[in-house]
Amino acid sequence: MTTLQPLKIGKHTIKIPIFQGGMGVGISWDELAGNVSKEGALGIISAVGTGYYKHMQFVEKLVKHKPFETINFYSKTALNEIFKNARKICGNSPLGVNILHAINDYGRVVRDACEAGANLIITGAGLPTNMPEFTKNFPDVALIPIVSSAKALRIICKRWEERYKRVPDAIVVEGPLSGGHQGFKYEDCFKPEFQLESIVPEVAKEAKEWGGIPIIAAGGVWDRTDIDRFISLGASGVQMGTRFLGTYECDAKAYQKILPHINKEDIELIKSPVGYPARALKVGVIARLEEGNAPKVQCVSNCVAPCHRGVEAKKVGYCIADSLGKGHLGDEREGLFFSGANGYRVKKIVSVKELIQELAQG
Ligand SMILES: Cc1cc2nc3c(=O)[nH]c(=O)nc-3n(C[C@H](O)[C@H](O)[C@H](O)COP(=O)(O)O)c2cc1C
Repeated sequence: MTTLQPLKIGKHTIKIPIFQGGMGVGISWDELAGNVSKEGALGIISAVGTGYYKHMQFVEKLVKHKPFETINFYSKTALNEIFKNARKICGNSPLGVNILHAINDYGRVVRDACEAGANLIITGAGLPTNMPEFTKNFPDVALIPIVSSAKALRIICKRWEERYKRVPDAIVVEGPLSGGHQGFKYEDCFKPEFQLESIVPEVAKEAKEWGGIPIIAAGGVWDRTDIDRFISLGASGVQMGTRFLGTYECDAKAYQKILPHINKEDIELIKSPVGYPARALKVGVIARLEEGNAPKVQCVSNCVAPCHRGVEAKKVGYCIADSLGKGHLGDEREGLFFSGANGYRVKKIVSVKELIQELAQG
C-alpha cells in the first residue's frame, strides 16, 4: 500500500485526497463537513435545503411548516451560519460546498456560497456549463463539476474554454453505485460499461487532453482497497458519501438508528422529481408509497427546476424537498433517506476521526 498523496486543486491543498460528498438536505452541514476538513480530508457542506437548518429558525416565511419558495429553501442566512460553525471546527482548512445544477436560483446560491467562504464548489445533477459565470469575483474558489462520462467532461471543457478561457480545477466522476441521484438512465445503472471501474479510465484520459485535470472517483468506494484501486485506474482521490452517513457527526442523526438494520434488498433505485433515478432506502416515504399512503404532494418550497412546482413530484408520488427535510428532522415515517448501494455494510457508527484514520492508514 502506498501513502495517499496530498491533492492540489486550484489554490487549495487537500492533505488526504478524500472528499466527503455533499449530502442534502441537512446530512453534510457544519458538524460533518467541519470535522472532515479538520481531519485533513475535504468536508463538503450541502447548500441544498439550508432553510431547514436548526429547525428553520433562519427562514423568514414558513407555509405549512415548510420554507416558503426558493429564497427560503436555499436560505443565505442559514448557509452563512453553517459555514461560520464549520469554520469554528476546521479553522482555515479547505472547505467545499455542493450545489446541484438543477436547483432553482443556482447562480444566486453559488454567489452566496462564495460569500460564505467556500473554497471549492462541487456541482452535479446537470451539466454546469455556466458555473464560472457566477464566481467571477472569487478567483480563488476552485470549480469542480461532477460527470458520469468522458463526453460530459468534453462538453464542459469546450464551453468553459470558449466562454471563460478556463477548464475545471478538478472533476468528480461518479458511477452508478452512489447514493442519491444518478447521472444515468435507470437501465444503464446496471450495465458493466457504466460502472465506475469502466468510466474512471475514460474520464482520466479525457482529463489529460485538457491539461491534466485531477479526477476524483465516486460511487461505491468503501475502504482503502477501493481507494487504491481507483487511484491505480487514474484517479487522484475519491469522494465518499455512504460511509459518512455512519458517523456520529453526520448532521442527519436518523441514519445512526436506521442504517445498522438495513439489508442489501432494502436499498433501491427510485424515481425522483429531479428527473434522474435516485438510490434510497426502502423506509420512510418510500415505504409509505408502496403501501399507498404517502403524504399528499403540495409544492411550497419550489426547490428544483425540473419538478415544475410539483408537477413531477405528483407523478412520482412524493415531494423531494419535504421528504428530505423530514428525513433531516428525524421523521422516520415520512422522511426520504438516500444511500449508496453499500449502505447495508454500515454496521457500526464511528467518529469521523476514526473513519479518516482507517481510510488513510489502511
Ligand atoms: C444521503 C445522500 C445524499 C446525497 N446528496 C447529494 C447531493 O445533495 N448532491 C450531490 O451532488 N450528491 C449527493 N449525494 C452523492 C454523494 O455526494 C457521493 O458522491 C456519493 O454518495 C458517493 O457514493 P457512495 O455513497 O457510494 O460513497 C448524496 C449521497 C447520499 C448517500
